[in-house]
Amino acid sequence: MPRHCCEIENKTFGEAGAKANLKKYRRRGPAKQTRMILEAARSLGIKNATLLDVGGGIGTIHHELLNDIASTAAHVDASAAYLKIAKEEAQRLGHDGRVEFIHADFTDVAGGLPQADVVTLDRVVCCYPNFRELLKAASSKCRKAIALTYPRETWYVKAIISAMNLFQRLRRDPFRVFVHPVNEMESLLNGEGFQRTSTRRLFVWEMSLYRKLAEQGGDFN
Ligand SMILES: C[S@@+](CC[C@H](N)C(=O)[O-])C[C@H]1O[C@@H](n2cnc3c(N)ncnc32)[C@H](O)[C@@H]1O
Repeated sequence: MPRHCCEIENKTFGEAGAKANLKKYRRRGPAKQTRMILEAARSLGIKNATLLDVGGGIGTIHHELLNDIASTAAHVDASAAYLKIAKEEAQRLGHDGRVEFIHADFTDVAGGLPQADVVTLDRVVCCYPNFRELLKAASSKCRKAIALTYPRETWYVKAIISAMNLFQRLRRDPFRVFVHPVNEMESLLNGEGFQRTSTRRLFVWEMSLYRKLAEQGGDFN
């Protein structure tokens, strides 16, 4: 596993992309796959939830959930540019003091973070080669539920992503996108005491909600 994750993400997820993302969010609201995560989190019926958003980008998930179900959030991101934009937007929304921003590779810092009720990873596992390490760390920090989006394992998604990665190789950019095996992600989360309770699909993205079983300290029977 490369320990230069932040370096790669800082380069790939830079200031121009973050500003464009924010502009789009302000104009149109959360993207479709993000809305599926928001709906899944709200479906849990939790109030005053603590949120851990891994790879939160411009912070859409906490900007939205701090308006209703969440009381505080932690946003860990490997891109300094995205974190900066997320922080400015949180201040504009009056959420200062309720979000902790951490610039790091989540797998490096997870051990020192407190647990959260809800953990979200929106389009993040596909940026990271070692999904096992990432999901293990995420599940260890989760009290109740994990909601994540990832690319569907279809031939056309694999073809699109192979073309993107070829383009990356040609321009000598080390960033790659990964279509990780969905059944292996599920087995891993099952082994950590989580059960998938819903899945929704778009053309490219899939969203799954996993709840922590009561026997593992969660609240799902
Ligand atoms: C495709 S963007 C998605 C951003 C946001 N969640 C969204 O859906 O709009 C991936 C984000 O994950 C972050 N990221 C990827 N791997 C990470 C890791 N290991 N630790 C922390 N952040 C990570 C990147 O810096 C980037 O902001």
